[in-house]
This record gives sequence, C-alpha cells and structure tokens, in this order.
Amino acid sequence: MVDLRAAIRTIPDYPKPGILFRDITTLLSDPRAFRAAIDQLVAPHSNSQIRHVVGVEARGFILGGALAHQLSAGFIPIRKKGKLPGETVSVTYELEYGQDEMELHRDAVLPGERVLLTDDLIATGGTAVGAVELLRGLGAEIVAACFLVDLPDLGGARKLRELGVEVHALCEFEGG
Ligand code: PRP
Ligand code: MG
Repeated sequence: MVDLRAAIRTIPDYPKPGILFRDITTLLSDPRAFRAAIDQLVAPHSNSQIRHVVGVEARGFILGGALAHQLSAGFIPIRKKGKLPGETVSVTYELEYGQDEMELHRDAVLPGERVLLTDDLIATGGTAVGAVELLRGLGAEIVAACFLVDLPDLGGARKLRELGVEVHALCEFEGG
C-alpha cells in the first residue's frame, strides 16, 4: 500500500509566512504514488457512466487527464479568464484574498451529461463551488467531485456537500 499522504511534501512559509503549502509535485513524480492515486480516485466511478472529467486549471488538469483516460471519458478544462477561444460561460469565484474569474466553453457539456469534477486540493472551496456553478449552469449532472487533498478546517468540502455534491478526497491535513 502506498502512503499517499506521506508522498505529499509540506513546505512551510510558502507562498507567505505562516502558510504550510501542501506540495503534490512529489506525489505526481513518484510512479507508484501517482498510479495509486489515480486508481483510488477512479475506483468509485468505474460503473458511473461518466462522460466527461472536468479539471480546473492548473493543477486539476494533471489529474483530470489521467482520470479521463482511465475512465474512457472525455476531458473538459475550466480555465482562468481569457484562455478559452470559443464562446464561454464565466463565474467569479472567491479566493482567500479577493476574487478571480474562470470560464468553461458553453458547448462543452450538454444538459444531463454526467461529469466528474476534479482538482488537486480543496481548501475554502471557492474554486470548486465556482466550478459547480458553471457546470450546473449548463445543465450538467455532477456525479462527484474528487481531490487528492482536503483541508477540512477550511470548510470547502462541507460547502460542496451542502450543494448536494458527493465529495471524495484521498487524504486530509489539519489546519490551513
Ligand atoms: C489552488 C488549488 C485549488 C484551489 C483550492 O489553485 O490547486 O485549485 O487553490 O483552493 P480553494 O478551495 O480555497 O478555492 P490555485 O488557484 O492556487 O492555482 P493553480 O491550480 O493554477 O496553481
Ligand atoms: Mg488550482
């Protein structure tokens, strides 16, 4: 059994003093850990008839591509403002300090299509809640949202569950 939690490196005082940064690059670069993480994330969904995996720029793309391939699903990116060339829908979402905007191609999902949302980590949930808004706005059915890491003290996973989204995370870290 690979210890995924141990494969994630913690860097103190990044990006600013007092923050413990949970760095997933060490998990991604470890062949056994990356394989195990993808296998564990897809396991609940092997019979879920997922048509698309939706990943959030940037770190959600790394997992999203691998998950989509493993599930024989398509991949859809949610990108930061101004990066998608076609007609888009957009949402303003909350960051720890301030706001940002992200976008989804308007024709990427059809009403009723079953999608799996993914990102590397959920903290305050601002990013994931914004992604849920975009997807539901186009009528997608969100089968679940999955993450490598949940920071439960920041409440993001709880917010998603309150929105009726099933949430899976492979490991948790206390504190911010
Ligand atoms: C990080 C992380 C998640 C988000 C989680 O992304 O990859 O997407 O923050 O935080 P939240 O739950 O409080 O919204 P970031 O915006 O730093 O950018 P990146 O993925 O492009 O590195
Ligand atoms: Mg991110």
